[in-house]
Amino acid sequence: MARAKIALIGSGMIGGTLAHIAAREELGDVILFDVVEGVPQGKALDIAEASPVFGRDSALKGANDYAGIAGADVCIVTAGVPRKPGMSRDDLLGINLKVMKAVGEGIAQHAPNAFVIVVTNPLDAMVWALRQFSKLPHNKVVGMAGVLDSARFRYFLAEEFKVSVEDVSAFVLGGHGDTMVPLARYSTIAGIPLPDLVKMGWTSQEKLDQIIQRTRDGGAEIVGLLKTGSAFYAPAESAIVMAKSYLRDKKRVLPCAANLTGQYGLNDMYVGVPCIIGAGGVEKVIEIALSPEERAMFDHSVGAVKGLVDACKGIDPSVG
Ligand code: APR
Repeated sequence: MARAKIALIGSGMIGGTLAHIAAREELGDVILFDVVEGVPQGKALDIAEASPVFGRDSALKGANDYAGIAGADVCIVTAGVPRKPGMSRDDLLGINLKVMKAVGEGIAQHAPNAFVIVVTNPLDAMVWALRQFSKLPHNKVVGMAGVLDSARFRYFLAEEFKVSVEDVSAFVLGGHGDTMVPLARYSTIAGIPLPDLVKMGWTSQEKLDQIIQRTRDGGAEIVGLLKTGSAFYAPAESAIVMAKSYLRDKKRVLPCAANLTGQYGLNDMYVGVPCIIGAGGVEKVIEIALSPEERAMFDHSVGAVKGLVDACKGIDPSVG
């Protein structure tokens, strides 16, 4: 059987890391795409030259023309610009909205059957916009945020409890970053829910609250350290897990920004919810009952996402 084709749209820090992981895991042939000439070609060649050393077979190529992504099975979108000092939220939205238009149209023309994973920020609005511009089926377009937010949460919990990261599972809902809604009662250490661990004296509620806040601020913490860029290893690993679940029909249950069709009382918007990802793309959105307090946090998060989507509609009415 022919190898799967993975198109990485945006060949910056996350795009390059995605290519490296995809090649090392032999997920398929990789095409790196970017508007900057030379960068996707250079990264593709560099990783291809490493492949005899790590001993995996994938073809890696770079492209500056959308024809290069033709027939891709998966597209992972990191194209865009980061927010720079002095740039307003609307400036950033305006720029990345234009990028989503170009990318959405490129995918629609050359890879209309792909499963598309959007990583570009502000995530929940960008994944919605890309779907609008591409007109791909909603179940084939998702945003990567929850896997990253829950990975950060899991890491901090593993550190706090001094247990393996493998034994920590975390459940998050809502928009990416500072409005993320962690669900403590569904987050566990080997099946023991966090509120029980507080009762057992393993940690305090205060410590747990600090961990949750650190998770919400996780992206900013990395930016503060790196100074010239944002996180790329953990975002890339997170997107790869989603791509792998689709390509191998694993049916992982992963928190993703997915389109809602009535679940959680919402329609026609992308927000972070637990999903089953398999060969059918988003095969199911899992709807759980929320306590009044959780619902209030979720509504706050949804309000922030709606604000961004409305701002996009104001900037480019053709998206609506
Ligand atoms: N089409 C294709 N690529 C583009 C376009 C476009 N219209 N506009 C910009 N790019 C490319 C840039 O040339 C750059 O190589 O997107 C790449 C972005 O890479 P980085 O700036 O290194 O950003 P990265 O750290 O990879 O993050 C990408 O993911 O997590 C989010 O907030 C992050 O929105 C950002 C995105």
